[in-house]
Amino acid sequence: MCVLAGIVQPVHAEDGYELWLRYRPMAAQQAQNFRLSASQLIAARDTPTQIATGAELLRGLGRLLGVVLPVSDAVTLDGAIVIGTAHSSPLVARLGLDLDDLGADGYLIRSMQIDGRRSTVIAACEDTGALYGVFHLLRLVQTGQSLEHLDLRESPRLKLRALNHWDNLDGYVERGYAGASIWDWDTLPDYLDPRYTDYARANASLGINATVLNNVNADALSLTPAYLRKAAALAGVFRPYGIRVFLSVRFSAPIEIGGLGTADPLDRQVQGWWRSKADEIYRTIPDFGGFLVKANSEGQPGPQDYGRSHAEGANLLADALAPHGGVVMWRAFVYSHEEPDDRAKQAYAEFAPLDGKFHANVLLQVKNGAIDFQPREPFHPLFGTMPKTPLMMEFQITKEYLGFATHLVYLGSLYEETLRADTYARGKGSTVARVIDGSLDGHALTGIAGVANIGADRNWSGSHFDQANWYAFGRLAWNPALSARAIADEWVRMTFSNDDRFVVPVVEMMMGSRQAAVDYMTPLGLHHQMARGHHYGPGPWVQGGPRADWTSVYYHRADSRGIGFDRSASGSNAVAQYFLPVASRFDDLRRTPEEFLLWFHHVPWSYRVHSGRSLWEELVYRYTHGVDYVHRMRATWKSLAPYVDSERYAQVDAFLGIQEREARWWRDASIAYFQTYSKRKLPAGLAPPLHPLEYYEALEFPNAPGDGR
Ligand code: GCU
Repeated sequence: MCVLAGIVQPVHAEDGYELWLRYRPMAAQQAQNFRLSASQLIAARDTPTQIATGAELLRGLGRLLGVVLPVSDAVTLDGAIVIGTAHSSPLVARLGLDLDDLGADGYLIRSMQIDGRRSTVIAACEDTGALYGVFHLLRLVQTGQSLEHLDLRESPRLKLRALNHWDNLDGYVERGYAGASIWDWDTLPDYLDPRYTDYARANASLGINATVLNNVNADALSLTPAYLRKAAALAGVFRPYGIRVFLSVRFSAPIEIGGLGTADPLDRQVQGWWRSKADEIYRTIPDFGGFLVKANSEGQPGPQDYGRSHAEGANLLADALAPHGGVVMWRAFVYSHEEPDDRAKQAYAEFAPLDGKFHANVLLQVKNGAIDFQPREPFHPLFGTMPKTPLMMEFQITKEYLGFATHLVYLGSLYEETLRADTYARGKGSTVARVIDGSLDGHALTGIAGVANIGADRNWSGSHFDQANWYAFGRLAWNPALSARAIADEWVRMTFSNDDRFVVPVVEMMMGSRQAAVDYMTPLGLHHQMARGHHYGPGPWVQGGPRADWTSVYYHRADSRGIGFDRSASGSNAVAQYFLPVASRFDDLRRTPEEFLLWFHHVPWSYRVHSGRSLWEELVYRYTHGVDYVHRMRATWKSLAPYVDSERYAQVDAFLGIQEREARWWRDASIAYFQTYSKRKLPAGLAPPLHPLEYYEALEFPNAPGDGR
């Protein structure tokens, strides 16, 4: 115990509420060193953003270093921190810093002598940039990095960095696994839960600057005056933190709340209705961001109901918002009811011909892959295909297909893999990141969205490690070139501990966790094998029902010869939607990256994969590897108990137990099912499924969380 006591951090109840902004006191010696660079604060505190900025710095450094920083008008001490813009601070103005190319949200942090004193300057063009700079400085302190000799310039690579809440007005969160919605529509606008401010702080700490409050499966009521006043109250809380409010809109709202007989985008009355609705919104929320729209997708109304195109639908709304500077984020997640063609091809077929037809304030919001947030998908073929249209990325932060809240799956690796994928749209180096940051095709309007994993649970995300996915999304939204590993490292330090004996194994465990989930759920390019509807647990046997492309058998196509979806030139030819040489690589069974093998090919059970094993053996190995990895994560976590407070330790430990059990369930059910087609034995030494197939098929979970409704 004595030995342990030496390494144990102060252990007090931690429920995760403070996320990565815990600001726990540092060890005395380290705090002493940092205090040399934190002696006084010089900052205007006139505007709400300036007040929030100063308060955050004082709170953060106060708690971390145990100081009460005096606020002064002039630099009088070594270790001064000067914050401001050239407009707000005569001192910053006189320093002659080159701020012009920082943009509205950028900032610089520089160590310099001011009036003969050693100082740190955080300077920006706008207040919001200075706020972001303060969070950067706090991150440096939280991760134990020196505040000396700083010379940093940062600007976000993307303009709109948005969370999408799939929150219904009744408080239910579609695909949410962290409790009810944090928006309490009943008590808004009168009561402003302090949680709204903490939400804004957490997002501002990452640079997230947009939030879509309601579900893409939208209720027209959110556009009624009563709900607009509620949204305005939230906008008021978020404004000082640089966050603008957006709403998902239902395309048929002119009928449902406007009393019109049609929602046809070419109808004059409909156009007038949206224009006056936009005017009303901006009277209520002057800095309103705009609309997010899911149209003609999964039963939602849309322009095609009137024989109009997606561009005509998007432009209708864009024109209403344009006078106010608002934008439309039009989703490309569409696949038709009638269309028998491969679902993976449909969004491309629908949207690629519309390039150049959208008005200037429309962004097309495209999911990372062509199916639906699977554990692994090749990048969506629309990226790079529509050079005249700004394409936004849509990632899922909530883990609908990745173990909900309990499985430890770090999504930084998934995001990084997609962002770095090379589309070859304009030759080598045409990465997805360069498509969405506008640099490939010269767009100034750019964006990225993450479907939030936030709910009313004390720890916000349903589990402690799921906070990392919110964090990773935000950091990559700021700079898509950051590495998932570096992000994991800083998150662990801020959220848990700076002790390398903890940080190194935890980052390692996180970095392999996504591959492990792919392996125990859908190895080698399998996809959409989850149970029907709620998507909880395995369901490779799912067939029948309202539509073929909502079944598992549609995607795995297993038969006595082999398994996989043939999307090669001799199959659905989805490969042709990619640029060369990506298309030819995906088309060629031998050259398809093994992680996408069964995404693009129907492969014989006896086919030899790179390891030299048959496809069947390899599948069983992969499933097993996934389970083994979770087993090892559990052991790693247990060995780290001395470094973690007991409350968070216990939840992570219990959740890893759930994950191991469910990983085994996934493995066994999948092997038992696919063995009925392969008719092959398991490789020697690998455990047979715990139960017969019928056992797994009979399991039912009518109350699994998050299902659509
Ligand atoms: C998935 C998800 C739905 C959601 C849809 C969307 O299909 O299961 O709940 O509405 O994506 O992104 O629109």
